[in-house]
Amino acid sequence: MSLPRRVKVVEVGPRDGLQNEPESVSTAQRTELIDRLADAGLKVIESGSFVSPKWVPKMADTAAVLAGIRRRPGVSYPVLVPNMKGLEAALAADVTEVAVFGAASETFSRKNINCSIAESLDRFAPVCESALANGLRVRGYVSCVLGCPYEGGVEPAAVADVSRRLLDLGCYEISLGDTIGVGTPLLAQAMVDRVAMVVPRERLAVHFHDTYGQALANILACLERGIAVVDSSVAGLGGCPYAKGATGNVASEDVLYMLDGMGLETGIDLPTVASAGRYISEILGRPAASRVSRALAARETPK
Ligand code: HMG
Ligand code: MG
Repeated sequence: MSLPRRVKVVEVGPRDGLQNEPESVSTAQRTELIDRLADAGLKVIESGSFVSPKWVPKMADTAAVLAGIRRRPGVSYPVLVPNMKGLEAALAADVTEVAVFGAASETFSRKNINCSIAESLDRFAPVCESALANGLRVRGYVSCVLGCPYEGGVEPAAVADVSRRLLDLGCYEISLGDTIGVGTPLLAQAMVDRVAMVVPRERLAVHFHDTYGQALANILACLERGIAVVDSSVAGLGGCPYAKGATGNVASEDVLYMLDGMGLETGIDLPTVASAGRYISEILGRPAASRVSRALAARETPK
């Protein structure tokens, strides 16, 4: 299988990243971050979630964020919605894309969205139907594709089953999430190959958290298996509030450096992403969790 010539990078930092950062980020700062990421050429920037503010307080201002950004033609600003209430809020905020999020592990599903996998799919059915009827695009997430913080190992067949169900509900793309970053390249390839038996590879994305430092290796392994959509988070922000110990996603800067170096097109300007990463890292009061960002900054600093 040959490498894709072009890779779509889905920026999830303003949602997946900031949902779990201990420091507060104001609505204006999250809005500014999203605008800077759009300046860099990112075409998909996940901007928030309409979930219970009791469960994820950091995303409670998502409607205000969406009202504040400079929406650019050709850029999608998806939001997560767990149920009809979330979808209604997303429609009121005039979004063009939403994402539903399920899991391949029963315990994680209960901890994250307070229902079983089967119940979650039943809940997503009317959400997807209504979103599609309103002309929205719907993305589907599967969490814990390479391991669960509560159950340990997860069978690739379970990932394939949920992925297929999400495809059948009308999701245009299924993002396979290594929520706690435990995966390694050969296991990632085996999982992707199993899912690809029931979902076409061109409909799959990979979403690696970098907890164990395996994310770039896993991404390369999946590119080699025909995957051409990669989720990442500027400055490696974040984690998952319902997966203890999970660190941020793989940093967008690190992914872009690798893709640029391999000659794979993304249409995204790495220095502008790195600058957006430094902007948000300064607000959070810590260096960007990106080796590439730190290397670029060191190169720019006069001796
Ligand atoms: P529940 O408690 O079972 O829900 O939570 P409920 O329907 O019984 O409602 C309870 C309260 O929440 C009510 O308010 C509802 O109105 C409110 P109260 O009467 O108590 O004042 N509520 C809502 N408020 C705003 N927006 C909504 C909404 N729905 C209910 N949409 C629920 C179930 C799904 C709501 C909850 O569990 C929840 O919000 N979970 C979200 C968890 C979350 O956002 N996790 C992080 C995202 S997933 C992730 O990060 C993984 C990913 O990155 C991929 C990967 O890495 O693997 C995607
Ligand atoms: Mg995630």
